[in-house]
Amino acid sequence: HLLSPSAPPAMSPAAAPLSQEEQKRVAAYRAVDLVQSGMVLGLGTGSTAVHALDRIADFLRRGILHDIVGIPTSKQTESIARALKIPLSDLDAHPVIDLSIDGADEVDPFLNLVKGRGGSLLREKMIEGASKKFVVIVDESKMVERLGGSGLAVPVEIIPFGWSYTLSKLKALFDLEHGFNAKLRTKVQDDGKEAPFITDNGNYIIDLYFENGIERDLGMISDSILRIVGVAEHGMFLGMATSVIVASKEGEVTVIN
Ligand code: 5RP
Repeated sequence: HLLSPSAPPAMSPAAAPLSQEEQKRVAAYRAVDLVQSGMVLGLGTGSTAVHALDRIADFLRRGILHDIVGIPTSKQTESIARALKIPLSDLDAHPVIDLSIDGADEVDPFLNLVKGRGGSLLREKMIEGASKKFVVIVDESKMVERLGGSGLAVPVEIIPFGWSYTLSKLKALFDLEHGFNAKLRTKVQDDGKEAPFITDNGNYIIDLYFENGIERDLGMISDSILRIVGVAEHGMFLGMATSVIVASKEGEVTVIN
């Protein structure tokens, strides 16, 4: 039955607001409605992308979708998708991807993103950059006026060799930025000791923090970061998203193209 413009909203005003997790699921399910049988799909990483994986697996089981090939953006996504029996391949076998679906840490009004809180930014950028369509799925808390503005880090993946040298080069780049800070991302290991966080590519991550968000031209900042020898990639995804699906507490879904 078709929704008319006067159809009631997804949730009545009296209903309880959706939790952040429910918003993530609503956005993810809407994105999976765009998937068609026979597609090569970029499979994102993180707690929002997991809802899309669940939905794709469910549609495959029920025969609503068939002949899907998934290209995982991380080892974590690969193992989840494998457990869900989503057929998998890689970027070498499928250099052109029909549609990628992934979450983000921040989305600005121009659909520029920050990604990589989960540390998978390099593979995500390669796979999503190879996609004809890249659909981003977020709850409303991810929408920001300016990248870096939510207090979360803008991650930069660097090679481990000479990491403190690379850190000093990154710090020098933002020397004059008010309230700027940069730190090596660490992780507490099973033995309780703190060690550098290691990406799927065997690299380290430097997290950049901007008190007021990035106030300078994003394209220039991107170029300057990438020119530092030792940097593999950064987590700003500029002009890459073809659409962003945002779910709100009220259960409304907005698609921004
Ligand atoms: C991982 C990512 C994630 O997509 C991003 O961190 C959002 O994660 P979540 O959906 O768990 O909030 O970029 O590298």
